[in-house]
Amino acid sequence: MGLIPEDVIQQVIDRTNIVELIGSYIPLKKAGVNYKALCPFHNEKTPSFVVTPNKQIFHCFGCHEGGNVLGFVMKHERMDFAEAVRFLANKAGVVVPETDHGARVKDDLRQTVFKANEAAVEYYHRNLVAGKEPEVKVARDYLRTRSVSLECVNRFKIGYAYDAWDGLAKELKQKGFADDVVLKSGLVVPREKGQGFYDRFRGRVIFSIFDYRDRPLAFGARALKKDDKAKYINSPETLLYTKGQHLYGLNWAKDAIAREDAVIVVEGYMDLIRPVEAGIGNVVATLGTALTPDHARLIRRYTRNVIMLFDMDSAGQAATMRSLDILLEEDMNVRVAALSDDEDPDSFILKDGAQAFRDRIKEAKSLFDFKLSRLTAAHNAQEIEGVALICQEMLPTIDKIPSEVVRDGYIRELARRLGIPVEAVSKERHRLGSKLTAKAAGVEQAVKREPKELSADESLLLKLMLADPKWVAEAHGCLAPKDLRDPAVRLIVARIFELFSAGKEVGAAALVNAFDDGDTRSVLTRLAQEDVVFNDQPRMFADCFKRIKGSRQKEERRVLREEIVIAEKAGDWQAVRSLQQRFKELIGG
Ligand code: UTP
Ligand code: MN
Repeated sequence: MGLIPEDVIQQVIDRTNIVELIGSYIPLKKAGVNYKALCPFHNEKTPSFVVTPNKQIFHCFGCHEGGNVLGFVMKHERMDFAEAVRFLANKAGVVVPETDHGARVKDDLRQTVFKANEAAVEYYHRNLVAGKEPEVKVARDYLRTRSVSLECVNRFKIGYAYDAWDGLAKELKQKGFADDVVLKSGLVVPREKGQGFYDRFRGRVIFSIFDYRDRPLAFGARALKKDDKAKYINSPETLLYTKGQHLYGLNWAKDAIAREDAVIVVEGYMDLIRPVEAGIGNVVATLGTALTPDHARLIRRYTRNVIMLFDMDSAGQAATMRSLDILLEEDMNVRVAALSDDEDPDSFILKDGAQAFRDRIKEAKSLFDFKLSRLTAAHNAQEIEGVALICQEMLPTIDKIPSEVVRDGYIRELARRLGIPVEAVSKERHRLGSKLTAKAAGVEQAVKREPKELSADESLLLKLMLADPKWVAEAHGCLAPKDLRDPAVRLIVARIFELFSAGKEVGAAALVNAFDDGDTRSVLTRLAQEDVVFNDQPRMFADCFKRIKGSRQKEERRVLREEIVIAEKAGDWQAVRSLQQRFKELIGG
């Protein structure tokens, strides 16, 4: 991998204000010279996430995550280092030179596959609106019976794939797309025997899936006949399309979602097209899968308010239940709307109209009501065992709600609905406590670790070095990293010396990039965020230095003594003598 030049990375860090950046993701509260927040990387109820503007770093005292602006973006946006640099460079107006040849080739290929997909969208669409063949007439009739107008076909770029082996393949070849590009688009399937490939979609109505920037990513192809074995055939995963990372219709819906500050999440293609046609524009579709954390983050760019409207069949309801916890974890407000059994948004609007649909959306239940009503239908709330089961299922969900006030309200409400005292629910909550955090906060469990115990002298020395470069110069003259006992401190100091010798800046925000290891990074951000106000820094430094050197020598003496004993036992007198000589030097020196 080609590397992004270090001065460019430094520019990106320098030009990004960490308070503004993190503040655009989570609410920050001023606390002295620092800012505090609920940590976005683990579940917590009291803020232990600290942003330190004068060092341009963050550190969480709960999960010990720490880093600079790049680390924050990597973790929050799930980007790799280079992506995060480019992401922030773009915001800050820093130009990142294109050094990565591999990435450029990959990027070119992506652009070409987009182009092939665009050609396919046009081809399928043209077939449907302009084709004269009888099979096209059948397709148009099918859409007419489903009340899909020509306008609608144009608006959503609906198309038709001929019932032939190479209609699209020929088209793309003729347009000059290379075979490997066509293969990579997933629009064709390689032949098992011999060479070449054939069209994946044949004799079907085509829905094109675009990303939020209107670029075609993938396709879904619907059978015209009821008895077809596969109702929909979809694009496979490609270099443009990963299942669960995109939402159908976001390109058409994003403005309406932002305007309405809410999104309705449905399952199918037609469940999106129908309401949008009817003037309800803030809809996206997951295309038959449960909502993923990626979906939630995509939505959160536009709104925090989500109304789930999945089918009432058991698959749809199970997907709804799973989606709820994901949305809660991503700190979204969730409500659940319901239609009658065996209706979906498409059929409902056709039958009862848009107003009835709007009413159902308005009547959407809170997540709490939805889950509780499902549980009371499944368990007997008249019996104490049933009540206990319902509690056990409700509490983990309630515990995912970030706001303490809302959580408390729900616990009271749960007690009221179940006809038991609030104390009983609270007790149950505490009894489940360990299990709750284990289950509800899977993330938290995974990252929760004890902060490293550091030697007081070593951490004080490092803090001084981070507070004032003067102490870096001083330490460089009289200390070596190997004089330090703690591996993390040793690594950090080694890196500081490296930068110092190269005449480079030694700020915490710049240093932190060097450490992939979370423990070391955590030590660095923890020490850096503590402000050192020492009256007498020179004395502090001298004292630390003396004690560190002292314990280093004590340790060396201990090792030597051990070695001497071993050599004596082995009768290796020559070794004993030379070890004793070194011991003397050590005491004398
Ligand atoms: P549904 O079975 O609810 O179909 O699947 P639908 O959306 O109501 O389809 P129509 O109205 O009969 O045309 C919901 C979604 O799940 C995906 C599709 O994205 C579909 O829209 N799905 C369904 C598949 O990918 N493959 C299938 O075979 C079925
Ligand atoms: Mn349907």
